[in-house]
Amino acid sequence: MKGVCLSLFVSLVFFQALNLANGQARLFWCVPLPGVPDAQLQANLDYACGRPDVDCGPIQPGGACYEPNTVASHAAFAMNLYYQIHGTRADCDFSGTANFTNTDPSYGACKYVNAIGGKL
Ligand SMILES: *[C@@H]1O[C@H](CO)[C@@H](O)[C@H](O)[C@H]1NC(C)=O
Repeated sequence: MKGVCLSLFVSLVFFQALNLANGQARLFWCVPLPGVPDAQLQANLDYACGRPDVDCGPIQPGGACYEPNTVASHAAFAMNLYYQIHGTRADCDFSGTANFTNTDPSYGACKYVNAIGGKL
């Protein structure tokens, strides 16, 4: 009986660890590559926010992601949202100016959604 309990416990811990590893591996956000000029970021921002299904409300004045009020920050938010909604790898490209990251770019009240992580 003791042995059964122990192996149950060990399996539980093992599968918990496996789940965690899977969960982390599956979390991807889309962010601009470093060094992309503001003009290109602005074009990405306009493109993403121009889509009716991309809600850019959070980067409007008063929104949770308005600060910092920079093109880079607003573009990163919009590009990620566009990618999460459209969902294919090719949607995180923006003419070669974006890439995936498994580091959550969220800060403070500003949440970067992640469809695969179940937050969208
Ligand atoms: C994009 O991310 C992938 C996976 O982390 C990496 O292998 C690749 O080199 C990155 N591409 C660029 C252009 O940074």
